[in-house]
Amino acid sequence: MQSARTKIASVLRLVPPAEVRVKGWVRTARDSKQVAFLEVNDGSCFASLQVVCSPELANFDELRGLSTGSAVSVVGELVPSPAQGQPVELRARSVEIVGRAESSFPLQKKRHSFEFLREIAHLRVRTNTFGAVFRVRSALAQAVHSFFQARGFFYVHTPIITASDAEGAGEMFRVTTLDVGAPPRTPTGAVDWREDFFSKPSYLTVSGQLGGETFAMGLSEIYTFGPTFRAENSNTPRHAAEFWMIEPEMAWYDLDDDADLAEAFVKALLRAALEGCGEDLAFFNDRVDRGLIARLEAVVSADFGRIDYAEAVDRLAKSGKSFEFPVFFGANLQAEHERYLTETLIGRPVFVVNYPKEIKAFYMRRNDDGRTVAAMDLLVPKIGELIGGSQREERLDVLERTIRESGLDPAGYSWYLDTRRFGTVPHAGFGLGFERLLMYVTGMENIRDVIPFPRTPRNCGF
Ligand code: 4AD
Ligand code: MG
Repeated sequence: MQSARTKIASVLRLVPPAEVRVKGWVRTARDSKQVAFLEVNDGSCFASLQVVCSPELANFDELRGLSTGSAVSVVGELVPSPAQGQPVELRARSVEIVGRAESSFPLQKKRHSFEFLREIAHLRVRTNTFGAVFRVRSALAQAVHSFFQARGFFYVHTPIITASDAEGAGEMFRVTTLDVGAPPRTPTGAVDWREDFFSKPSYLTVSGQLGGETFAMGLSEIYTFGPTFRAENSNTPRHAAEFWMIEPEMAWYDLDDDADLAEAFVKALLRAALEGCGEDLAFFNDRVDRGLIARLEAVVSADFGRIDYAEAVDRLAKSGKSFEFPVFFGANLQAEHERYLTETLIGRPVFVVNYPKEIKAFYMRRNDDGRTVAAMDLLVPKIGELIGGSQREERLDVLERTIRESGLDPAGYSWYLDTRRFGTVPHAGFGLGFERLLMYVTGMENIRDVIPFPRTPRNCGF
């Protein structure tokens, strides 16, 4: 039965006349006494297929007035369509109503706000916008693998549950099987984590980097692509508590090599979207973000800028623009600074490199100036930070010191430090936030609208 079904994406490539069976959901139904039109969509592509039902059909009366959202299986003849805007339509010989949608189906034919659609995240994939978002998401996930596999990188599955804080920022979700209302206690009254599932405190990972580094010390070039978790209370359109990150890690790379790879990677992903998701991008360009396609094409052919953090701060300070947060050497660049830098001062994607050591993670390589680290952030228009990366501190003594200086205990990182004990080499890597990339590629302005079921502070529905 299944084999007889043709997805609408394929149906639309057929040359009529052709006999086909399609299965999908009714987007809209219109009818008169003489005919009923069902617009059927199966998600395989942006377009829906118009199904024309005539009174000869045994269940014509049921089909007239069929509710939006109902599932149907249609057999019919694909013919050239007399109607405007569609080359073909399906003249139905039989229409089976497989699953009727109750009249309370919330996606009736009108424009719904993205805020409203978030409340029905389990149904929103049946809209034009979200069908397109999630097809692009799927295509780009594949493009990530193609990019790295073509270069001989190996895909590594680093753990989701971990005992180490890869960023040292203390933004981890705890994982426990203890009864939080009545946990076991030590004689001094502290929670006795030895009684917990892993016999020690454990968390959801914030990054696969540390495990990735150990694998790069054997496989040379690797990447991870998996979910990461941040318990940071950031309620912004760019932060999620659960997001997907791609983290390549390369032995023998310095910061320049790292930025070169990141630039090639971003361009390859944009190219993949432009080439493989044309219909969906055309929709975003029309309805969500005018100028999107031209912007993406420009980025693919532009050279990304590179600027030292110190110079970036200087130019921001001298720009005459008034910011909410002050800029000075040592300040964390805020979204407003990042966007002004990439959108106005540089006018294209830009790597900011060599940040003050105080505002970056313990594993970044100390520069010889004593005050900066070999870090890079890639900033892009509309989004701000898309990538964060660095050359890693490969010198054992320096790394032990920076771990301590960050208030962390080197004992907890002994396995990681082993990479520096046994055949250490210069290496570098970066992390690209997959949802940030999707925002960039689709023009969607809220991270909640590019991930199936967003997790953000006070929101864990579905
Ligand atoms: O800059 P971050 O924190 O870097 C790391 O995690 C490193 N371990 C990466 C590495 O060098 N291997 O995060 C990397 C990227 C950011 O640039 C951003 O795109 C994304 O991950 N990101 C988030 N995306 C959505 N929601 C959040 N809360 C995010 N935090 C970071
Ligand atoms: Mg960062």
